Amino acid sequence: MFITDDIRYVGVNDHNIDLFEGQYVVENGMAYNSYVIMDEQIAVMDTVDGNFTDEWLKNISDVIGDRKPSYLIVQHMEPDHSANVANFLDLYKDAKVVATAKAFVMMKQFFGTDYPERQIVVKEGDTLSLGTHTLTFVLAPMVHWPEVMVTYDSKDKVLFSADAFGKFGALDVEEDWACEARRYYFGIVGKYGVQAQALLKKAAGLDIQTICALHGPILKENLGYYLDLYNTWSSYGVESEGVVIAYTSVYGNTKKAVELLADKLTALGCPKVTVTDLARDDMAEAVEDAFRYGKLVLATTTYNGDIFPFMKTFIEHLTERGYRNRTIGLIENGSWAPTAAKTMLKMFEGSKNLTFTDTTVTIKSAVNTENEAQIAALAEELCK
Ligand code: FEO
Repeated sequence: MFITDDIRYVGVNDHNIDLFEGQYVVENGMAYNSYVIMDEQIAVMDTVDGNFTDEWLKNISDVIGDRKPSYLIVQHMEPDHSANVANFLDLYKDAKVVATAKAFVMMKQFFGTDYPERQIVVKEGDTLSLGTHTLTFVLAPMVHWPEVMVTYDSKDKVLFSADAFGKFGALDVEEDWACEARRYYFGIVGKYGVQAQALLKKAAGLDIQTICALHGPILKENLGYYLDLYNTWSSYGVESEGVVIAYTSVYGNTKKAVELLADKLTALGCPKVTVTDLARDDMAEAVEDAFRYGKLVLATTTYNGDIFPFMKTFIEHLTERGYRNRTIGLIENGSWAPTAAKTMLKMFEGSKNLTFTDTTVTIKSAVNTENEAQIAALAEELCK
C-alpha cells in the first residue's frame, strides 16, 4: 500500500484472532501495521504479531527488492508489534535496531538479548537521517507502555504514532473509525489520559499531514477530527450529551426498572439513551459509552453482601481508567437487605469530580408504585 512516494505499508490483517490482548472481542479482526521508508538507507517501522512472520517478511521484500534495510525502528515492545524483532534481525544481519533504553530492557526480557552490537538508543528529540528523510523521535511513555516513542518524518510530514490513533478492526473491512477507535482508546489507553494529553501537546508543535498508527487505517484527511476526538477522550471530556444505563438483572425486575427509566428519559427528550446489559453485552462497549456520554445510571442487585459480579467488574473498569467529570444515578435491588447503592458509591470514593443524583432508587424485589415515582424523579434530575 502506497502512503507517500517513499513510504509503503507492509502490515498484516488478522482475522483469526479470538480476543485481542486476551480480552477484547474484535468482530472485524485486527491490523498490525508496519511501514517501510525507502531512502538512501531503508528503515522498517516496527514488526507485527508472531503469527504473521512470513507474510510480513514477504511484504517487506516485495517493497525493498534486492536492497537491505539499515534500520528496524521499534516504537513499542508489546508483542503485537515486537514479536518479530529477533526474526528480522536474524534475517537482516547488518540492520541496526533503534529504540528507547526502556525498550532495550524489554527486548532482553523477551528475546534474551538487547543486541548490544547493533543497538541505537534514542531519547527525546534525537534524530536519524536516512538520506533525504530525517526522523525525529518523540517519547510517549504510557501510550501505552513506558518504553513507547513515536516518530516524525519531517520530509513527508508523517507521524508514526505507535498505539495512539489506533483502532480495532482489520484494514480490509470498512467500518466507522470513531466507534472502534473509541472502544480501543478507552479499553487500552484510557487509564493514561494525562500521558496521551502530553503526546498531543508535543504533536501540536509538528506539521502533520499523515498519521500512521500501529493499528487501524492511515489517517490523511481531516486530521483535526481525529485530533479533536483524542483531545476530548484523553481529557475525560464529554463527547456527546446522553445517558448510559448499565445494568445487571437476575430475574428481570431490575431490568424492568431500567426500561421504565429509559422510556421516561426518552419521553423527556433526552438526546440519547443507551441501555446495556453488563452480563450479555460487550463490556468494552459499555466502558466506551460510559466515557462517551455525560451521564451514567448503574442498576444492580445486592449479591453475596456485595453487588452482582458483572457490575463490580464494570465499575472497576471505570475507576481504574480514571472515570471522572460525570453525573451518576444509582438503582439498587435487594429482597431483604438492599445495600448495592452504598457499595457502588463506595467504589467511586477515589474518583474525581463525580456528581451523584439526589434520587437513588431502592427496589425491594420488584418495582412498586413508590419506585415508579422514584424513577420518574431520577429521570427528571438526569434531564435537567
Ligand atoms: Fe498495539 Fe500496546 O500494543
